[in-house]
Amino acid sequence: MEKVRFGIIGCGNMGTKHAENLANGLIKNGVLAAVCDIKPSRLDAMRALYGDTIAYFDCAEDMYKSGTVDVVHICTPHYDHPRLAIEAMDHHLHCVVEKPAGVYTKQVKEMLTRAESADTLLGIMFNQRTNPAFRKMREMIQNGAIGRIKRTNWIITDWYRTQEYYDSGAWRATWVGEGGGVLMNQAPHQLDLFQWITGMSPVRVRAFCHLGKWHDIEVEDDVTCYCEYENGATGVFITTTADAPGTNRFEVTGTKGTLLFEKGRLYYTELDIDEREYCFATRAVFATPPAKETVEIAIEGENTQHVGILNNVANAVLGLEPLYAPASDGIHGVELANAMLLSSLLDKTVTLPIDEDLFYEELKKLIATSKPRQIREETVTKV
Ligand SMILES: NC(=O)c1ccc[n+]([C@@H]2O[C@H](COP(=O)([O-])OP(=O)(O)OC[C@H]3O[C@@H](n4cnc5c(N)ncnc54)[C@H](O)[C@@H]3O)[C@@H](O)[C@H]2O)c1
Repeated sequence: MEKVRFGIIGCGNMGTKHAENLANGLIKNGVLAAVCDIKPSRLDAMRALYGDTIAYFDCAEDMYKSGTVDVVHICTPHYDHPRLAIEAMDHHLHCVVEKPAGVYTKQVKEMLTRAESADTLLGIMFNQRTNPAFRKMREMIQNGAIGRIKRTNWIITDWYRTQEYYDSGAWRATWVGEGGGVLMNQAPHQLDLFQWITGMSPVRVRAFCHLGKWHDIEVEDDVTCYCEYENGATGVFITTTADAPGTNRFEVTGTKGTLLFEKGRLYYTELDIDEREYCFATRAVFATPPAKETVEIAIEGENTQHVGILNNVANAVLGLEPLYAPASDGIHGVELANAMLLSSLLDKTVTLPIDEDLFYEELKKLIATSKPRQIREETVTKV
C-alpha cells in the first residue's frame, strides 16, 4: 500500500475539514479517496470541491463494500459512531471515530468488544492529545515531578456557543439526536485529558448538570462536578458553553509540587520537601513547605491537532508507529460523562464503574421526552 486511502463519513462541520486536510496533502501517507453523506446537498457540496478525483456514497455500507478506501473516518452525530465503526470492522476496514466514542458506555463496549477480534485498527479523534503542553504535563506527572496527586481542578469554560450554533442542526443539543450537551460535544477532549494526563480516573462523583440553563436546548450546558479518586485525591471539573470570555485552567497538585496549565501555558512549582513529610516534621506553627520559584515550562513542538492524529493513523495502518489515540481509551471519557449526568439526575453521589443499565434507562427516559430541533436552515461551518 503506497498511501492509505481515507473515506470520510459525514460531510458536515468536521468531516469537511478532515476532507480538506487530506485533499491538501497534509497527511503525508494518506489521501482522500471517498466521502459519504446521507444528505444529497452535502454530497453536492463535496462534488463541487473534488470533482471526479474521489468516490461519492450516500450510504456507508456502499462505501464499505466499494473497495475504494482503507480507513473510514466517522464524522456523524454521536449515537452512530459505534454502529458505523462495528460495520467498518466487519468489512475489514480500519476506522477512526470522532469524539465522543459513543453516547453511553454500553454501546461503546460493543464497539470495543468487536475491535478485540478485528484485523484492523480502531482510533479516536482526540486531537487535543497532540498539544505539547498536555504531553509535557503528562510526562512530568508520570516521572513523579509533583509526587502523589492530591487534587485535580479543571475549569474549562472557553467553549462559548451561541443559540445559533445549537440551531444549526436538528440533531444538536437534543437527547434523541446528540445524547447530551457540553459533556458530549465540547468537553470530551478534557474528559479524556483529565484522565490521560493524570493517569487516574475518579471512582466517585457528585455532579450538578444544569439542563438548558443558558440556551434554549434540552441538554446540559453548565456542569460542576466533584470527584474522588482511589488514592484519596479529590478533584473538581467545571464546564459550560455560556461563559465569556471563560477560561481554561487545569491545576494538578501533588505532595511534591503543582503543575498548572492555563490558556496554553504550563507552570511548575516544585516543593523542596514532600508536603506530607514536612507537615509532620516541622516544629513551626504557621510555616509552609519551602518551594522553588514557580517556572514556566518551555513547550517544544507543534500542536498538530486533527492533522497530527490523521498522520498518526495513516502511519499506524502502514505499521510505522502505534496509534496515539486508540478508541479503547474513548470509554473513559464517556463513562465519566455518563457518571456526571447520572449523579445529577439521581441527585446523589455515583460510584464508578457506573451501573450502565441504570444509566441507559435514565437516558431512554430523556430520549422519550426529546424532539429534533426545529431549525430555520441547516448550516455547515468548517471547523
Ligand atoms: N474533534 C473535533 O475537534 C471536533 C469538532 C467538531 C465536531 N466534532 C465531532 O464530529 C462529529 C460531527 O459533528 P459536526 O459538527 O461535523 O456535525 P454536522 O451536523 O455538521 O455534520 C454531520 C454530518 O453527518 C451526516 N450524517 C449523519 N448520519 C449519517 C450517516 N449515517 N451516514 C453518513 N452521513 C451521515 C449529516 O448529514 C451531516 O452532514 C461529532 O461527533 C462531533 O462531536 C469533532
